[in-house]
Amino acid sequence: MSGPRQHGTRVTERLSPDVSGIARAAALLAQGRTVAFPTETVYGLGADAGDAAAIAAIYAAKDRPAFNPLIVHCTSIAQAEGVARFDDAARRLAAAFWPGPLTLVLPLRPGAPVADLALAGLPTLALRVPAHPLARALLAAFGGLVAAPSANPSGRISPTTADHVLDGLAGRIDAVLDGGACPVGVESTIIGWPAGIASLLRPGGLPVEAVEAALGIRLARPGTAAHGSDITAPGQLASHYAPAAPLRLNADAPGPCEAWLGFGPRDGRPGLTLSETGDLHEAAANLFGHLRMLDARVRAEGLTGIAAAPVPQHGLGLAINDRLARAAAPRPGIGTAGDDIPSEKGS
Ligand code: TXA
Ligand code: MG
Repeated sequence: MSGPRQHGTRVTERLSPDVSGIARAAALLAQGRTVAFPTETVYGLGADAGDAAAIAAIYAAKDRPAFNPLIVHCTSIAQAEGVARFDDAARRLAAAFWPGPLTLVLPLRPGAPVADLALAGLPTLALRVPAHPLARALLAAFGGLVAAPSANPSGRISPTTADHVLDGLAGRIDAVLDGGACPVGVESTIIGWPAGIASLLRPGGLPVEAVEAALGIRLARPGTAAHGSDITAPGQLASHYAPAAPLRLNADAPGPCEAWLGFGPRDGRPGLTLSETGDLHEAAANLFGHLRMLDARVRAEGLTGIAAAPVPQHGLGLAINDRLARAAAPRPGIGTAGDDIPSEKGS
């Protein structure tokens, strides 16, 4: 493992996943600094949720639009209930799935110690209790609420290793706690009750079927009339999670100048497969890393883009297909290595 890296204006410390690394990460958070840390989904870029300057540093490091609110990470359901109002349905989901890859969007309690900037002016708060042991150790050592979007430049692919974090943000953040690869690999499932309707705001690492089974109802899905959300958060805009290379979806096979992202057996084809055996959990864990590798291959070999095989639309397939669709959505500036998306930036 390499040491600290510097590309921008400061040295980003790489902290080891042990008692001293966790203590250093917690001390940095307490000083209002930005620290990336592993969760079971993806790496988050954390800061003290109550410290407006620290939250501003997150937005600056990511080049994230200030109208896109952050997820606040808690150690326990009790801590979460202190900052947001839970009804019976929210309590049932928290009891069933926390700690884990689920985010709940709930009414903020007046006076909750969360900086306005993290809320982006909304009366609701996105909350999550992560399951990753290092995230839990860091939250316990810090003691307070940690606001953390995914630790990538806005609009780019979320990081699932510390190296991914450093590739995008070295020199722009204070540290990364290196916990290896994130086991789930896609961001949390976000559930909210806009206009009182239980809605899937973002498919993610917790299968939507599990949420529906726990609630005993079908959730309103994005893009349907029943969906109560009129919130335009950049994370829900079409172009997002983008590699630099163009991405072609539902392909049978790669064209002569395309890199291949398969699903299922490779059958001798060059390229990568999300899962040889067609396992959706394995596919989710591989998704962002494989997109990064293929993106680099397109650049290095002068290919025209990435072709992706179809992925079944159930379980974690919803999240995988959502991220692939956003990565494939038309956007300005496509094909320019390393640049960000001038408009419709996401998280
Ligand atoms: O797995 C995850 O959720 C990771 C890890 C680090 O926890 N975090 C993550 O954060 O993916 P981020 O910021 O990249 O995505 C959070 C999404 C954004 O699309 C944001 O717009 C939405 O949550 N969001 C936050 N607060 C919201 C609110 N009050 N209402 C609706 N959407 C909200
Ligand atoms: Mg994000």
